[in-house]
Amino acid sequence: MNFWHTLRRPIIGLSPMDGVTDAPFRYVTAKHGRPDVMFTEFVPVEAVTHNAVKVMTDFLYSEIERPVVAQIYGAEPESFYKVTHVVCELGFDGVDINMGCPAKSVVHGGCGAGLIRTPDRAKAIIRATQQAVKDWSEGSTLERVGIPKDIIKWVRERPRASARKQIPVTVKTRIGYSENTITDWVKHLLETEPVVISIHGRTLKQMYKGEADWDAIAAAAEIIHQTPTLVLGNGDVKSAADATQKIRASGVDGVLIGRAAYGNPWIFTQKDDIRRAVVEGQLPERRWVESHESLDVMLEHARLFGEMRSNLKYVAMRKHFAWYAQWIPELRVRKKELMQINSYEELSKMCESIL
Ligand SMILES: Cc1cc2nc3c(=O)[nH]c(=O)nc-3n(C[C@H](O)[C@H](O)[C@H](O)COP(=O)(O)O)c2cc1C
Repeated sequence: MNFWHTLRRPIIGLSPMDGVTDAPFRYVTAKHGRPDVMFTEFVPVEAVTHNAVKVMTDFLYSEIERPVVAQIYGAEPESFYKVTHVVCELGFDGVDINMGCPAKSVVHGGCGAGLIRTPDRAKAIIRATQQAVKDWSEGSTLERVGIPKDIIKWVRERPRASARKQIPVTVKTRIGYSENTITDWVKHLLETEPVVISIHGRTLKQMYKGEADWDAIAAAAEIIHQTPTLVLGNGDVKSAADATQKIRASGVDGVLIGRAAYGNPWIFTQKDDIRRAVVEGQLPERRWVESHESLDVMLEHARLFGEMRSNLKYVAMRKHFAWYAQWIPELRVRKKELMQINSYEELSKMCESIL
């Protein structure tokens, strides 16, 4: 029994997005939307084993986010074994392995969706991660597995896991490399008994083009349902109504929502509407957000970004302003100005002028 089995069904979670779902984003999403589960951005295991302390900020999280799962990626089972110790020690609720990223730089190293072509390596990675979770729960330490000392120092300055319990290992992937091979691919994954398989309904070759293939997700769900593993569908869920339809049609245990959560934590406030609608059939209406509500959350997000991610340039925050502006007509018309904001103070001054 782990947290995944205590969540209400269908599960409505926030999908991991590099450059988007960092600690401040997840904080406001948790506070104002409460998704059932959230994931960090993907973190490269080889960077951690090579003492690149700067990637560790991707592992920052707050208690409000729980259950929060750390997502990691790489190619070497040994590195997954080591970095899973770090994830456990930091007190994450789960560890997720990225087998879905289509970026050339990632795939060329045999990582992300590249693993779809090397199922034996993919299975070795899952098994190494599961072994690490077990060994850590039985007392294995960061020192013993050879985590570099600067990383250990960073970890020790953070709150620790409250108990040495075994956290669930999950996988997020796509329906294939250049074509849909999901039914064969999930059979490989199921040999290792991951707790959850999340499936983005596109091939690696498609990147983000075309439409997510929910028939392929449904075919995978049928196979996965014959096992204790849970299946989450992902790709192009644009609204609560859309989530309802996709869940009903594919039979998945839940969905992950990515881009529709841009500037929109409120999409998750509809999770009970979705659960009701999946049973009763009536589609939920889109939740309308008042401009002052969006403005307040944008300011809160901007302030947190300054506090939590001071290592990043403020430019990284501007895309969020544009996304919140979808609800704020007065800002939508001043996008150019918005895209030049360099600090929380500048933003709040601009907002004062429209209140
Ligand atoms: C900017 C961006 C960054 C992403 N980064 C990750 C990542 O770090 N890990 C991951 O598993 N998927 C990542 N994805 C994929 C999303 O989690 C999701 O699978 C995809 O966007 C489809 O879902 P959506 O249509 O709801 O956005 C990313 C997607 C986007 C748009």
